[in-house]
Amino acid sequence: MTEQSEAVRTGARRGAVDIAQKFGRFTEHWSPKIIAESNGWQFKLVKASGEFVWHQHEIDEVFLVFAGQVTIQLRGADDVTLGPGQLFVVPRRTEHRPYAPEGCQLMLIEPAGVVNTGSAPGELTAVDEWI
Ligand code: NI
Repeated sequence: MTEQSEAVRTGARRGAVDIAQKFGRFTEHWSPKIIAESNGWQFKLVKASGEFVWHQHEIDEVFLVFAGQVTIQLRGADDVTLGPGQLFVVPRRTEHRPYAPEGCQLMLIEPAGVVNTGSAPGELTAVDEWI
C-alpha cells in the first residue's frame, strides 16, 4: 500500500469523496477500486463492460449503479437489471454473473478482502487498490 493510499484509507485527508471524480481516475474494466472503508466494509467503484464470469461469494454483495446498466444473471433465479440509482443485494453463495454490454459504472459494497471473482479465480481476478 502506498503512503498516499494509506492516508486516504485512514481518513487523514478529510473531506468529501467525489464519486464522479473517482470514476474519472481509472479506465480498467472489472477492476474494483476502493474509495472508502467503514466498519470493515469497503466501497468499491467498478467500470463494467461486456460479461464477467460466473462465480459466488461467502458474503452478500451489494451492487449500486451510477451510470449505464448492468444485468446480474443469477443461477436458478430471474436476471436482475439495474440502472442509475438502483441497488441489488446478491445473496451469499448465489452464483451470479454481471453483464454490461453497453458499459456500466457501479459501486460494490462488501466486507474488506472480498475477491471479485470469488469462487472462480482466473483472468479477471483483480487485486483491489485504493484510489
Ligand atoms: Ni460477485
